[in-house]
Amino acid sequence: MNDPTKPIRKCVCFDTSFKDLRQSGLRTVEEIAKQYGCTTNCGLCKPYIERMLVSGETEFAVELT
Ligand code: FES
Repeated sequence: MNDPTKPIRKCVCFDTSFKDLRQSGLRTVEEIAKQYGCTTNCGLCKPYIERMLVSGETEFAVELT
C-alpha cells in the first residue's frame, strides 16, 4: 500500500518504480542505469535509488540530494 506521506516512488523519466527496481535484483546504480536507463536523463532519481540499494526503501518523503 502506498504511503501518502512518502510520495516519491519512481524514476519519472523512465517511468520505473523503485519497487520494480528493487525487485529486479540489480545491486548497483550502474547496473540499473544500463538495464532501465534510470539516473541517465535528469538524474534526480539517483539519490533515491542509491538509498534504496542500501536500505531497501522504495518510497521517500524527503528530497534527497
Ligand atoms: S527521474 Fe530518473 S533520470 Fe530523471
